[in-house]
Amino acid sequence: MAKKTVEDLDLKGKKVLVRVDFNVPIKDDVITNDNRIVAAIPTIDYITAEGGKAILFSHLGRVKTEEDKAGKSLKPVAERLSELLGKPVTFVPETRGKELEEAIANMKDGDVLVVENTRFEDIDGKKESKNDPELGKYWASLGDVFVNDAFGTAHRAHASNVGIASNLPTAVGYLMEKEIKFIGGVVENPQRPFVAILGGAKVSDKIGVIENLIDKADKILIGGGMTYTFQAAQGRKVGMSICEKDKLDLARELLEKAGDKLILPVDTVCAPDFDNDAPTTILTGDIPDDLEGLDIGPETIKLFTEELQGAKTVIWNGPMGVFELPTFAKGTIGVCEAIANLKDATTIIGGGDSAAAAIQLGFADEFTHISTGGGASLEYLEGKVLPGVESISDK
Ligand code: 3PG
Repeated sequence: MAKKTVEDLDLKGKKVLVRVDFNVPIKDDVITNDNRIVAAIPTIDYITAEGGKAILFSHLGRVKTEEDKAGKSLKPVAERLSELLGKPVTFVPETRGKELEEAIANMKDGDVLVVENTRFEDIDGKKESKNDPELGKYWASLGDVFVNDAFGTAHRAHASNVGIASNLPTAVGYLMEKEIKFIGGVVENPQRPFVAILGGAKVSDKIGVIENLIDKADKILIGGGMTYTFQAAQGRKVGMSICEKDKLDLARELLEKAGDKLILPVDTVCAPDFDNDAPTTILTGDIPDDLEGLDIGPETIKLFTEELQGAKTVIWNGPMGVFELPTFAKGTIGVCEAIANLKDATTIIGGGDSAAAAIQLGFADEFTHISTGGGASLEYLEGKVLPGVESISDK
């Protein structure tokens, strides 16, 4: 059933608690990728335009000890948000207490405030990550309504999402709504033909996704490091390529279950080591002991391009090779191009490394939707219920 959205709430003069996922990469106090902040702007803009006071909660990284707090403050995020919104944003360096309560009491309609990293509450008994009921209740007491726009965190049942939601009227924000529409839509009711492209290093990371998509997708194209576990399971030699030896039986089972739905690469770009300047060889059969596979080959790009023709829904999760090195990025670029050239298809990137690859390789605008979720997208594609979504009221 559809979830209530931010537009279903009366926001004028209200203290609107918003869970966003501002878990962005930060190096030396500099945000190296602000996509998740940008993605939350429409919801924040709507709330403030409606005269609500936007009080934002997010985690940043994982915090277990006092020392872990270093470099994990949301202050730089609040500063970047202020630049993006083009207006002041109050940052409160606390997760509870007088300073926070007074700052909220002083907010005017349309103001924006960022609360310090919710996981600072994990130092003393994992209150945030274990969804401590008192913490959820306390945070909820700071507002009138709750909007969850943190899709990237939706697979977690934490105090700042599920905890607050169980104490206030709730709705999803625009980003969450979009993620449910696209990723949820793929799992529930894809337009056909539906082609899934799965890559990444390990079969073990994608078992649940492959199992779920075997039943739903018309074709599953496999690339990336997990190829070699499947090929080893077929009795091929994979040289020094990444291979999960303890997953060969499972790979065999998946191959059997999927039948001709599952399509493996037909050639591989191999090299003696993980180096952009290493000499490369394209092989169609066994990989000798002194080489490793680092990308799909040109015949595979052709095959995947053909298999994608006519697709109406495409979901892609996991790069085809070591795209960070230009020598081994051609497979991932080839797949991006093939998807970009599809007419009338809904094309979705399921977050994580493939989202980073598409953005880095210049294809960000070519997809219908790029998910902001990593683990959340994977669990959603596995068909799991996401607690962060589940805890929001239905329409
Ligand atoms: C993510 O980056 O996948 C989300 O922000 C969740 O972070 P977590 O894995 O630390 O819970």
